[in-house]
This record gives sequence, C-alpha cells and structure tokens, in this order.
Amino acid sequence: MGVEVSVEGLTKSFGSQRIWQDVSLTLPAGEVSALLGPSGTGKSVFLKSLIGLLRPEQGSIIIDGTDILQCSSKDLYEIRKLFGVLFQDGALFGSMNLYDNVAFPLREHTKKSESDIRKIVMSKLELVGLLGAEDKLPGEISGGMRKRAGLARALVLDPEIILVDEPDSGLDPVRTTYISQTLIDINAEIDATILIVSHNINLARTVPDNIGMLFRRQLVMFGPREVLLTSDEPVVKQFLNGTMIGPIGMSEEKDEAQMAHEQALVDAGHHAGGVEDVEGIVPQMQATPGMPVRQAVGRRQDRVRQILHTLPPAAQAAIVESLEGEGAASAYPEHEYRHDNRDDDTQVIPAYSPEGYDQPHGLK
Ligand SMILES: Nc1ncnc2c1ncn2[C@@H]1O[C@H](COP(=O)(O)OP(=O)(O)OP(=O)(O)O)[C@@H](O)[C@H]1O
Ligand SMILES: [Mg+2]
Repeated sequence: MGVEVSVEGLTKSFGSQRIWQDVSLTLPAGEVSALLGPSGTGKSVFLKSLIGLLRPEQGSIIIDGTDILQCSSKDLYEIRKLFGVLFQDGALFGSMNLYDNVAFPLREHTKKSESDIRKIVMSKLELVGLLGAEDKLPGEISGGMRKRAGLARALVLDPEIILVDEPDSGLDPVRTTYISQTLIDINAEIDATILIVSHNINLARTVPDNIGMLFRRQLVMFGPREVLLTSDEPVVKQFLNGTMIGPIGMSEEKDEAQMAHEQALVDAGHHAGGVEDVEGIVPQMQATPGMPVRQAVGRRQDRVRQILHTLPPAAQAAIVESLEGEGAASAYPEHEYRHDNRDDDTQVIPAYSPEGYDQPHGLK
C-alpha cells in the first residue's frame, strides 16, 4: 500500500512573496486526493515541495516517518524513490524518443536487464494509450500525448506516491475522462497514494476520494470529496461552476466593487459563463471491470465513518447516502448516526450541531 503524506503548518514564500501559509493536510495512504485552486495559487509549488524540490520555510512534511524538511540529503534521496511525478510541462527529454524517456528512470535507478525494461516500458505505454508511438520524439507528438508519456514515465518504478500536475491540460474532454479512468485503475492496481493537481471540474467531481482547494494563500478546505462538493463557500461554488460571479477574478482576486459591478451585469441579463446548476455529488468513477478492487474504497469508508461527526451537515448527509444507498440519509435520525460496521453496535457517533461541528481542516 502507498504511504501516508502528512503536511503540518507549511508556509512557502519566494523572497517577499508569500505563496501559501500554514497549510496542513494528510493524504491518506493509498487514496486518491485532488488539489484544486485558481491559476497561480501555488499548486505546482506545493507538489514540488512534497518531493523536496522546493523548500518551504516553515512546517513539516512527514513521509514514511521522515520529515523531509529536516532529514539529510541522503535520506531525501531515498524518500524520493517512493515518488512518481508527472510535472505540469511533462518534462520529457527533447532529444530522446518516448521509449527512452519512459525507460530513463529504470536505467538510472535499477539494475534491470534491457529485456525486463522493455516489458515494463511497453506495458506502461500501453496503459496510457501510446503503443506504436515509442519511436517518436517529444517534439513530434501532440501536447496531450506528451502528457501521457510523462505519466507513463512517472509509473515505471511502481511508485508508492504518485503526484500528477494537471494530467488533463492539453487533453480533450474525452481523453481527460480516459486519463481519469487510468488514474483510478492505477490506484486499483498498485494501491498508491495519489495527489492530482487539476483545474478540471469533471475530474475533480468524479475521480478523487478527497479534495482540497488553495485560494488567497490558504488551504481553504481539505477533506472527503463530499465536503467540497456540497460546500456553500462562494469560492468553491464559483470554481465548481466555472462562472465569473464570485471571489475569483482574472488576476485571482477581486475587490468588492468589481464583484458588485459584475453582479449588476448578471442581474441585468448578462451571462456569467460557466455551467449553471451543477450541484451536489455525482458518483465516483470505479476501476475498470477486471481490475482489482480499489482497496482505498473500504479503507476510506472506515476512515470517513470515524470523522463523520466532524463534517458539515450536507457532507454528512451525502456520505451517509453513499455509504448506505439511496434514501438512507433520512433513515438516520440526525442526532444518532450508528456505527454499523462495529461489533459493538451500541456505539454511537456523537450528535453534530449545525453551528458547532468541528472543522479540523475547515474554512479559515
Ligand atoms: N521557482 C520560483 N521562483 C519564484 N517564484 C516562483 C517559482 N515557482 C513559482 N513561483 C511563483 O509562485 C506562484 C505560484 O505558482 P504555481 O506554479 O505553483 O501556481 P499554480 O497554482 O500551479 O498555477 P497554474 O494553475 O497556472 O499552474 C506564482 O506566482 C509563481 O510566479
Ligand atoms: Mg501549476
């Protein structure tokens, strides 16, 4: 199973420019998480911090029991072997064909024979739909194909933690769904801990077990997918619906006057763009039939049951519904949600109070 990544109080600046501060979250082992956020909010900086390519000035990043901000460079080198990373730009070597690009980590980090390497490379190229393109140079293929080649390369060492920075950029909607399916299938197959950075609303709604969002130098949320997908937070709703109405502007932040001006335009009949009325939760993608069952699903159910009482009411209702099937939410009185998976069935999760639920990773 993949390893847990635990981030606590992380703050990163470049010179006097604060990128984000006091970011705390845990990527549960073997689950798929997504980090959303408008352009420029520091998502790529966050990914690079997780593998020690950038150094936040405060906080800790615990991976497999080691704080990578405190450890020796030798330990960091070892920890990095746990990772497979797809960078935002694909980061392929321009003078190497796709085969050699994908084989590169195997030749660099293992002593495998060329025939073993060939089996692995071809299977990963097949997984991302690039069989037949192995002799092409990165400059000879489309942006989306480069992205998929980068993903194949990120997978060759069977990583325990996979970081993917905008796997959908440059892909059409159908290919994006295929890559979403591929990520879910990879999770089913190798049970790796996966973090996906994306702007893609479809992907965010259907792929991850957990979702977080960066905005205005803060992690505004991180938790089970139901929390963000049922959130009433204006920034979250605006992002999920892709409209111009809300706190996100062209240069990330808007002032009150601009928001009022835009609202007045919409009130006068101007279209705010985006997809209206996309509300609530759509079912999560499942592994392709024939793949192993995603181990993450059962683990997540147990984990979410434990923290259910700490979540906002709408998220609780959505989770209860998904755990127990249609109509179950109304079958559970809101003050008494039972832990049915326990042997001791007298144990009851404490009541929530709509005003007073805990927000361990809640809004700041
Ligand atoms: N190496 C660096 N040196 C200085 N500033 C940097 C560096 N890398 C990133 N930044 C700055 O950090 C901020 C966040 O950049 P980042 O690339 O993480 O954004 P992002 O959320 O990934 O955006 P996008 O969605 O457009 O990819 C930007 O203002 C960027 O200019
Ligand atoms: Mg980025």
